[in-house]
Amino acid sequence: MARHQYGIFAEGTRSHHHLELSVRPDASDDALRTALIGVRSANADHRTNGGTNLVIGFGSALAERLGLAAVEPFPGYASADGRLQAPATQRDLWVWVHGPTPDVVVDVVRAVHEALAPVASLELDLPGFVYHDSRDLTGFIDGSANPFLDDAPVVAVVGAGEPGEGGCLAMTMRFEHHLDRFDALEVADQEAVFGRTKPESVELDAKPADAHISRVEVDDEDGEELKVYRRSVPWATASQQGLHFVAFGADTARFDLQLRHQYGLVDGITDRLLEFTTPHTGSFWRCPSVEDLERVAPLPDDDD
Ligand code: HEM
Repeated sequence: MARHQYGIFAEGTRSHHHLELSVRPDASDDALRTALIGVRSANADHRTNGGTNLVIGFGSALAERLGLAAVEPFPGYASADGRLQAPATQRDLWVWVHGPTPDVVVDVVRAVHEALAPVASLELDLPGFVYHDSRDLTGFIDGSANPFLDDAPVVAVVGAGEPGEGGCLAMTMRFEHHLDRFDALEVADQEAVFGRTKPESVELDAKPADAHISRVEVDDEDGEELKVYRRSVPWATASQQGLHFVAFGADTARFDLQLRHQYGLVDGITDRLLEFTTPHTGSFWRCPSVEDLERVAPLPDDDD
């Protein structure tokens, strides 16, 4: 079985950085390959610096160009009245670097940018961080229902014999929060928005149908829960704050079903959380196995 990109499951890192790029139309295959080798080397060259992880995802067009297994482009979603929108901003390449501290992360991010500059333009350049005990900036713990690390690959890795085996599918969305509106709610009402208590993240006995977790907990046709493995992080400046939503799964269909539930496209009920946060980007990615990455961008031999 091919190996997944290990950075996907490396937990405990508090400094994150997300880059999204579009490949320029005139980029040659050779230049692209050199740039991708540079991206992989950017982290390989820093592996003694205190543990940075680098994850690479490809959008539909670039996956096809490189001969990787297919991935659907993010289609975009909207509630029936058009009030709630999740725009599609599908780009070609996603690079996620994370590590213990911003200094070691930024060294890798700069090397990645330098490697890609000849062939691609930067569309998203977003540092993120773990906020206190893994809370979203609303103050709620994010990740309580995430599968444990033993189970996470079962949920997120494409199985043997499937196209792209050993790799993962991912979804990213940059959300901007409206914290003034959310902070104005009583705590009991904030808890109703998520369906969990604020201090300890205990699931409410009676969750409203429009609570976030009521919307995103979805089952397949046999009633089995379709789980995802989430690695979202907050981002913030003095005047703007939000969450960079990041989730991995063994297919994109489960993300699609969760989003259709959130945007009221299944039963007409929309996710109340969307009254307090707005997505500005949305993409699906194929994160190939190490073997597939080695095929499209082989790392130079390292005899040291
Ligand atoms: C700004 C946007 C979002 C915020 C602030 C947010 C925050 C949270 C919080 C606080 C929880 C409860 C604790 C936990 O289990 O992690 C949660 C659960 C969850 N969220 Fe989100 N989330 C956001 C967007 C999304 C999106 C876009 C999806 C998928 C389309 C999603 C999928 C999930 C799932 C699957 C759970 C676990 C549900 C369960 O099984 O209990 N979230 N989220």
